[in-house]
Amino acid sequence: MRIDMVTLFPEMFLGPFGDSIIKRAVDSGILDIHYTNFRDYSFDKHKHVDDSPFGGGAGMVLKPEPLFRAVKALKEATTELAEGRRILLMDPSGVTFTQAKAKELAACSQLIFICGHYEGFDARITEHLADEAISIGDYVLTGGELPAMVIADAVARMLPGVLGDEDSAPTDSFYNGLLEFPQYTRPREFEGMEVPEVLISGDHARIAEWRRRQSLRLTLERRPDLLDKACLTAADRLYLQGLKKEAACVDRQGESL
Ligand SMILES: C[S@@+](CC[C@H](N)C(=O)[O-])C[C@H]1O[C@@H](n2cnc3c(N)ncnc32)[C@H](O)[C@@H]1O
Repeated sequence: MRIDMVTLFPEMFLGPFGDSIIKRAVDSGILDIHYTNFRDYSFDKHKHVDDSPFGGGAGMVLKPEPLFRAVKALKEATTELAEGRRILLMDPSGVTFTQAKAKELAACSQLIFICGHYEGFDARITEHLADEAISIGDYVLTGGELPAMVIADAVARMLPGVLGDEDSAPTDSFYNGLLEFPQYTRPREFEGMEVPEVLISGDHARIAEWRRRQSLRLTLERRPDLLDKACLTAADRLYLQGLKKEAACVDRQGESL
């Protein structure tokens, strides 16, 4: 997959993408990451990329010309990728990024990330240049570089070959619509804290059942909203009903004290 970061601050990416799993994916040719500084596409003699907002107000707005020119040049240089290309605008008012979106984007052959700064973009960029606007959450950051890194990282780890066996995690939170079960490693006992007996029993069926139930329990406790969309078996539903009854019972006992 080819990734293009269209940004005023390409150096911000060097640390996070210069190490570990993403670096390995680049070195092995699974990922091809390029950086375009859209200031280079400003024809203004002072290389301005922003201007004050029409109608007044605080802050500066990113002008359309440099970004339209930069993306046009990228498209012309990568015509062979046109069919699987997506142009993503980093924008707090975009749709919220999820694992499902990461999976969808992992099927593309090229992702162009447009990173904003200052007060944001001239709306013509949102409406006519980007395929979609994506937010990484309900908060405002100073720029689109961190959101672009977050999204690119989540997408990259879904590409075949990026995760080796040691970091491969098909049971990761959200992959199957639930939160991941708790994990333990050696030692079996640490300062009086024991690993659950079932995990050292060697009984794979019991371990699988324990993990599934722990996933369900954690999801119910922390992210019950996920259960509406998760793919649940009849046994899962029965277990969840039991947990809900247990919780209601504890609540009633608390009230009567
Ligand atoms: C200071 S923000 C602009 C915020 C904008 N005035 C607003 O209220 O929506 C500057 C840039 O950072 C990026 N950004 C900030 N928060 C983000 C988020 N939660 N998700 C995606 N991008 C974000 C966007 O590219 C945005 O244009």
